[in-house]
Amino acid sequence: MAEAGKIKIDLGPRSYWVHVRPGLMARTGPFLAEMFNTRRAIIITDSTVGALYTRPLQDSLRTAGLNVHAIAFPAGEEHKNLATYNVVMERLLGLNPPIDRRTMIVSLGGGVVGDLAGFVAATALRGVDFISLPTTLLAAVDASVGGKTGLDAQAGKNLVGAFHQPRLVLIDTTLLTTLPAAQLRNGLAECVKHAVVRDATLLNFIAEKAPAILAAQPGPLAELILRNVAIKAAIVSADEHEKSLRALLNFGHTLGHALETAAGYGGLSHGQAVSMGMVAACHIAAARGLMHATHAAKVRSVLESLKLPVRFADLPTLDAKARDFQALLPIMGRDKKAARGTVRWILPKGLGDAALFEDVKLEEVRKAIEYLNLS
Ligand SMILES: NC(=O)c1ccc[n+]([C@@H]2O[C@H](COP(=O)([O-])OP(=O)(O)OC[C@H]3O[C@@H](n4cnc5c(N)ncnc54)[C@H](O)[C@@H]3O)[C@@H](O)[C@H]2O)c1
Repeated sequence: MAEAGKIKIDLGPRSYWVHVRPGLMARTGPFLAEMFNTRRAIIITDSTVGALYTRPLQDSLRTAGLNVHAIAFPAGEEHKNLATYNVVMERLLGLNPPIDRRTMIVSLGGGVVGDLAGFVAATALRGVDFISLPTTLLAAVDASVGGKTGLDAQAGKNLVGAFHQPRLVLIDTTLLTTLPAAQLRNGLAECVKHAVVRDATLLNFIAEKAPAILAAQPGPLAELILRNVAIKAAIVSADEHEKSLRALLNFGHTLGHALETAAGYGGLSHGQAVSMGMVAACHIAAARGLMHATHAAKVRSVLESLKLPVRFADLPTLDAKARDFQALLPIMGRDKKAARGTVRWILPKGLGDAALFEDVKLEEVRKAIEYLNLS
């Protein structure tokens, strides 16, 4: 359900609203005071976002009469782990007076903060409520909606976690104006993903507004976020625990994850990796006749207009092994199917529609990687 500037995530008794508009952070205190039976809020944030926004958020909460405390951890994916969780949790449980089940956790940050703060909320006192103020485009359009929380482990990314839905999501578009351009593009890759698997008109909107979006203009940005949240909301409401439909959100991620792993830490951003993965998936889909070649070309040109890479030549510093099919294959095929000579891919069936294919042959993948090397 959507109203002006807000969308409901329909999950029965655990339903919640996502509000999108400039200036929302200053309204966080009144929102909490009016909607929830809580007098206490603990902000969890990272060092970068905390330095920019903890103070105004604290002011809003205190003015509304809440008792407020803030906990910050060092920014970066490398801190989304059990060690940071332990530090944050011990600080939370060591507060005086002690927190109780009515204490509200307030997540302030990008996807890393959202995942960690959400997991802290899911597990402190066997679960307390949390609300989310996403500050990256990726967190706004993807990570903050759907209730997936978690941490990375030595064995792999996001291997520790829980489903724990927020009670409210407040997306203040003015917070995105401080976001570095590379981080904005990370989020844009996920927006293209949503458009290709669910909404061809969104792809047209992105194509048309690319310069305004890249300039973080508040109007186009708010519309972009609302349209993407609507898509994620529909998918999450239909398939909360990722049994079927939600898997479509892995479009571009089979090769994307493999590229990220092969490139090594810091070699490639997630958005860049997903962009290359989407181009490869469209190439396979077009070669199979699932998707018209002009539609595959359109996805590619929209990604290019957003300054996302569409060929290996766009990533001159990438490690050579990350361009190599033989090196990528074992990373991509870490499931049972790969042993039988096929891998799972989400492939588009035209624009705005996609499905999971379990029978993608290694030869098709090899040709797609060759295409990324030659095109
Ligand atoms: N739970 C989910 O459903 C879900 C979905 C997608 C991704 N994720 C997770 O999200 C994480 C990536 O999130 P991300 O891309 O937001 O990264 P991030 O949270 O690390 O943020 C990127 C960087 O930007 C900084 N930053 C954030 N907001 C800022 C702002 N407004 N101004 C200036 N700097 C700002 C951060 O401090 C950080 O250094 C990954 O760990 C991924 O696994 C989760």
